[in-house]
Amino acid sequence: MDHYAVFGNPIKHSRSPWIHAQFAAQTGVELEYRAQEVDPAQFEQQVLAFFASGGAGLNITVPFKERAHDLAQVRSEAATVAGAVNTLYQGADGRLVGDNTDGIGMLRDILQNKGVLRQRRILVVGAGGAVRGVLPNLLAEHPAELVIVNRTAERASALAARFRDLGPVRGGGFELLSDAAGMLPFDWVINGTSAGLGGGLPPLPDNVISPRSWGYDMVYGQGQTVFQQWCRNHGAEKALDGLGMLVEQAAEAFYLWRGVRPQTAPVIATLRQKLAEG
Ligand code: ATR
Repeated sequence: MDHYAVFGNPIKHSRSPWIHAQFAAQTGVELEYRAQEVDPAQFEQQVLAFFASGGAGLNITVPFKERAHDLAQVRSEAATVAGAVNTLYQGADGRLVGDNTDGIGMLRDILQNKGVLRQRRILVVGAGGAVRGVLPNLLAEHPAELVIVNRTAERASALAARFRDLGPVRGGGFELLSDAAGMLPFDWVINGTSAGLGGGLPPLPDNVISPRSWGYDMVYGQGQTVFQQWCRNHGAEKALDGLGMLVEQAAEAFYLWRGVRPQTAPVIATLRQKLAEG
């Protein structure tokens, strides 16, 4: 039986073991997938030990994605561009391969929901690792414009500069939105901040949303997230949360490991129901 795990800290609430168990059942394979809390002092050691003992694949989550990127001996383009790795496995030559399925996961979720990015104007809020991982995929869809705003303005402008070759992107502080009211509203408002984890909202002006806008929160909760509610209260056409992205990035990792792409829709639906039931 093949062994998989997700390494992170904290990791207790990870849904990944459940999600991969669904994928395994669906595709008729037996595998073990566990969530392991890793001591930050031992991350690299533990990864190497996992593969040395025959482990087949790892997912990597907060706060180790950048360290996983550095540890990988071969990196996919997505991992290189993001500077972060969420999926590790051993290549045929035994070298440690690092990939990043967060961006493709988000994109697949948007497409599954019949969202359109081409020629649309996208506002991305936040400039941390989560945002960096998805920007290349968003830009690859040829939006008309992508604006990144962040509490720490320099992080947003640095990200915009980093991805400038991939499309029309600019970045700055939240004042960018009040100073240039002509660019409001946006077709998409994507929340990649961690503000919601503490029940907060990024300080966005009301008029970033129109009845045509779609909101997307990269996190999820038991019910609607605070940001989803905010989008709906401001009349957005649709507001998605990060649950679909979670399942889609897992499916993409499963595909990298096993060459089979599981069906995500039933897993998303069941997970949503499980969350609602608490
Ligand atoms: P991750 O890897 O999950 O993206 P991160 O690198 O710590 O985590 O980034 C968190 C993001 O949420 C950052 O963009 C952060 O803004 P700063 O760069 O200014 O720190 C943003 N963030 C966190 N709490 C916030 C809040 N209360 N309001 C607005 N933005 C917030």
